[in-house]
Amino acid sequence: MSVNFMRNKILVTGGAGYIGSHTCIALHEAGYDMVVYDNLSNSSREAINRVSTLIGQNIEFVEGDIRDIEALRQVFSSHQFFGVIHFAGLKAVGESVAKPLLYYNNNVIGTIDLLEVMAEYDVKNLVFSSSATVYGDPENLPIDENSPRSCTNPYGQSKLTVEHILEDLVTSDSSWNLIPLRYFNPVGAHSSGQIGEDPNDIPNNLMPYISQVAVGKLEKLSIFGNDYPTIDGTGVRDFIHVTDLAQGHVSALNYLERRTSSTNPSDMKKSVGFLPINLGTGKGTSVLELVNAFTEVTGRDIPYQFTDRRAGDIASCYASADKAKVLLGWQAKLSVNDMCKDTWYWQSMNPSGYKVS
Ligand code: NAD
Ligand code: UD1
Repeated sequence: MSVNFMRNKILVTGGAGYIGSHTCIALHEAGYDMVVYDNLSNSSREAINRVSTLIGQNIEFVEGDIRDIEALRQVFSSHQFFGVIHFAGLKAVGESVAKPLLYYNNNVIGTIDLLEVMAEYDVKNLVFSSSATVYGDPENLPIDENSPRSCTNPYGQSKLTVEHILEDLVTSDSSWNLIPLRYFNPVGAHSSGQIGEDPNDIPNNLMPYISQVAVGKLEKLSIFGNDYPTIDGTGVRDFIHVTDLAQGHVSALNYLERRTSSTNPSDMKKSVGFLPINLGTGKGTSVLELVNAFTEVTGRDIPYQFTDRRAGDIASCYASADKAKVLLGWQAKLSVNDMCKDTWYWQSMNPSGYKVS
């Protein structure tokens, strides 16, 4: 897509990762300029190369850690950013239980370091990658943004702690504009098949596990529990296509721009404060329904067995997506079949992810 106008410049931390790389494409298509800052701890330079090829332009990439304050200062002093989309973080729940200090250090201290440098350079617009995990085991479905928050593992706690820090920051200084986006279950890949999710080792999450079974890298799927109080006994989640999710970030930035940069006195020119928003489809899909949809769309058989429930899993989790629709004018467009089709296209074109097979 050709872009003949340039909008504000955005710093994208963690932009080489799964959601970040898709968001870079959406940002470019919306006319934003960007700098990606990533320590490549869970991603590869190849993702950035492929995004650059897809958008027909080299992305400015800085290899660095968000806890390296001097490196961050250098980036902020050489660019005038409108805001930051902050994806950088570690995300494996099991690993966070084994290595809590690593998770709090990376996700919480790293975010504090980033916020301090943002304050130094007076960049006060932030879109933060939060998670539906902050809702814990929800009392009511669909889950809206006012639902109680609680977490049982260090990964979830790190997201919730950052949310609390952001709330305190706004209380201390109302010129901050902070939007935590609470993602439900991101899946799928770019329709080109060039970028997608590339887990290290054996995947923890359902969709990459299914696709690795489909491509023959794993023998069979274990479905964790078939005795939940759901439509077919298996867990229910709100799967959302990563392309829709990426677009949600653009909509959040547009909202921040409208609210903070308007020169029209009749516009609401006031700070956004702390504004959490769910990014989900609003629809629940069970594990078995997803497996069946994958088979139907791709023609690949997915052998599976039922095993015990996974510790810490909940029965059902899906979003109320009304706030995103009303405030951001955003809603998910792509279906579960699209999610399966695009996951499979990426997986079959790149059986070893970004690594050379
Ligand atoms: P990802 O691991 O693919 O991307 C995260 C990126 O951050 C990686 O490129 C990694 O190298 C980088 N990174 C990590 N620590 C860093 C640091 N200290 N300094 C600089 N870069 C660092 O993960 P993703 O799936 O794209 O997730 C992006 C964000 O969204 C994460 O914060 C994650 O917790 C959150 N999130 C993800 C999901 C999901 O299911 N994928 C759900 C909810 C929330
Ligand atoms: C998990 C994390 C959550 C995190 C999210 C995105 C846990 C308990 N929760 O969410 O904190 O924000 O990933 O990274 O880890 N399933 C199987 N077999 C598998 C894998 C999963 O049956 O091999 C089932 C699970 O039991 C669940 C559903 O599939 O019912 C979705 O699991 P998953 O993709 O791991 O996401 P969540 O558990 O929702």
